[in-house]
Amino acid sequence: MPKILVVPGDGIGVEVTEVSVSILRTVGERNGVEFTLENDLLGGCAIDAHGIPVTEETIEKAKQSDAVLLGAVGGPKWENIEHHLKPERGLLELRKQLDTFANLRPAIVYAALADASTLKREVVEGVDIMVVRELTSGIYFGHPRGNEQLGGGESKAFNTLHYTTSEIERVAKMAFEIARKRKNKVTSIDKSNVLESMVLWRDTVTELHERQFSDVTLEHLYVDNAAMQLIRRPADFDVMLAGNMFGDIISDEAAQLTGSLGMLPSASVGNEGAIYEPVHGSAPDIAGKGIANPIASILSMAMMLRYSFDMDGAAAQVEEAVRKVLDKGYRTSDIYEEGKARVGTEEMGSLILGEL
Ligand code: IPM
Ligand code: MN
Repeated sequence: MPKILVVPGDGIGVEVTEVSVSILRTVGERNGVEFTLENDLLGGCAIDAHGIPVTEETIEKAKQSDAVLLGAVGGPKWENIEHHLKPERGLLELRKQLDTFANLRPAIVYAALADASTLKREVVEGVDIMVVRELTSGIYFGHPRGNEQLGGGESKAFNTLHYTTSEIERVAKMAFEIARKRKNKVTSIDKSNVLESMVLWRDTVTELHERQFSDVTLEHLYVDNAAMQLIRRPADFDVMLAGNMFGDIISDEAAQLTGSLGMLPSASVGNEGAIYEPVHGSAPDIAGKGIANPIASILSMAMMLRYSFDMDGAAAQVEEAVRKVLDKGYRTSDIYEEGKARVGTEEMGSLILGEL
């Protein structure tokens, strides 16, 4: 019996997760798989209930589960809290504790949505990118970090970007293996012209490639150039490999190619477990209105079926159902275009369920 910890979090995280959980239940019934679901708090709602963004018990439960299905965390209510108690810290702690070192973020441009992109149709058509982002190290977690009063009203704040050979190798290995099942190309992103940590990044990726993956095409791009090439010739990319912060930035950019951040799922995988979550945030401006796009969450749930439960067929059915509903012209507000049918969160969920 697969055990899933459901952590809707804050804002639209709650609404979209509810929809994907109801679809997940149906998928389970159809496939004779009994998912055991338990709910828990993370982020702002955990701060309200416990005074901290994630409790030991939640982390323990996550470790005991086969997968975590997450919504989103954060919101204006918790913006002025001390830095180390912010909702985001809960998410980062969960990722760190579960050692989910590889974050897979597929950005696919659906034919039906090519005109919803802010780029020209002919530029984004056929885009199918997998961003592989390092998730548990880099500048997000490096020490020393903090701030110092220098006197005279002057402060100094600092973070540290460091990577070890093995941290780079394990995520790069994942990228190469994924590429072999796709178009067999990896673009590794760094800033080795300036940063020592990124020289190690490039050297390690290059060596691993020569040693084990010389059948895969490898290119290296500096992150500034990669950001530019990604809007110039996005269809040329297959797997994009990057460290934590560059991967965070590049994956939002890749998401926008597809028309909306509301479409992008992600899977964070590693040694201790897996976390599935939409790339989008808690979107406080539209939270509670029932208009959020549940597709990123639904597709994250599909990634969970595929990567954690080997249910490739069921995952493909969910993805196909999403495609059909889009082909039929149904759109949530974020991807709405003239002449299409505008639907809310729940209705989008029901339509997708209907296609299954
Ligand atoms: C993401 C988010 C998080 C990150 C934030 C909320 C901590 O932007 O998942 O991309 O920076 O990793
Ligand atoms: Mn981000």
